[in-house]
Amino acid sequence: MRITFCCTGTKAQPWLEGLRAALPDATVEEWAPGAPQADHAVVWAPPQAMMDEQPGLKGIFNIGAGVDALMRLQLPARAAVVRLDDAGMSVQMAEYVCHAVIRHFREFASYDARQLDAKWAFNKQLQRADFPVGIMGMGVLGERVARALRQFDYPVNGWSRSAKAVDGVRGFAGDAQFDDFLAASRILVCLLPLTPDTVDIMRRETLSKLRPGGYVINVARGGHLVDADLIALIDSGHLAGATLDVFRTEPLPEDHPFWSHPRITVTPHTSARTVRDESIAQIVGKILAMERGEPVAGVVRTDRGY
Ligand SMILES: NC(=O)c1ccc[n+]([C@@H]2O[C@H](COP(=O)([O-])OP(=O)(O)OC[C@H]3O[C@@H](n4cnc5c(N)ncnc54)[C@H](OP(=O)(O)O)[C@@H]3O)[C@@H](O)[C@H]2O)c1
Repeated sequence: MRITFCCTGTKAQPWLEGLRAALPDATVEEWAPGAPQADHAVVWAPPQAMMDEQPGLKGIFNIGAGVDALMRLQLPARAAVVRLDDAGMSVQMAEYVCHAVIRHFREFASYDARQLDAKWAFNKQLQRADFPVGIMGMGVLGERVARALRQFDYPVNGWSRSAKAVDGVRGFAGDAQFDDFLAASRILVCLLPLTPDTVDIMRRETLSKLRPGGYVINVARGGHLVDADLIALIDSGHLAGATLDVFRTEPLPEDHPFWSHPRITVTPHTSARTVRDESIAQIVGKILAMERGEPVAGVVRTDRGY
């Protein structure tokens, strides 16, 4: 069996070593133009040329949960595209989103500022019930985030394409219930895949439907958010602010207004990083299952883009 590895912006050597150790009978090599046909590919944002040269791939294993970069390519017709299922990412996402929600709700930024002046002063106590959190995307990551927020007794709303029953979470599904979901939420968390249906989903028209004092947490993809609309709604006072981890252009350009906006917190696409060893173990397990003809979890439905 031959495995080709083609991950843009990723140090290849530790992955190659891990894959070779776990698949001692396979040939595992980094892809280069002209490389021999492989059975499976392990990829992150590969070039079109790689797909064009590997028409016989059986499996394409993405080393992340989001497959939007892959869906923009022409892929070998018979290859199954397989995403990572959690693999250590959902606990990080729960941590990141809970931190952002709690930091906002408990107004920790104002205490940080006061410490600089050695000023001892409390803010008025706020009510959790006034800060319902709406999670767009109740998949592997969204559901874990919802459960974590429920541990802190925040009211949680979840919106997905199909109806979901998650303990303690008020479920909304499909386009028909989207406006009700927005109107019921004050803090909006985006955990959707980026697809033609979800691009620009956070724009003036939709964000205006959040409760006054709304707050946006985008941990999915930059393409979900219309940057100028967010800034306008914060500056007009309808939204209180945002925590953003993902951007239309990454790295976020130095002159982008998000960097200096006093109500926007920026992090460099770090909310849930791929955990290498766990990911290698999961991918190897799936490759071996596929070779045995067994079903594999996390196969992407290319017709819907996630
Ligand atoms: N910032 C980071 O570091 C980072 C790390 C990992 C992932 N991500 C992002 O997080 C995204 C979600 O990951 P995941 O593993 O949770 O994905 P997932 O398991 O595929 O879940 C996607 C969820 O979105 C819902 N959805 C998709 N299209 C929809 C639509 N048009 N309307 C309503 N709901 C829709 C799905 O509904 P159904 O349940 O009905 O199918 C599902 O609940 C990834 O695609 C990636 O972009 C970011």
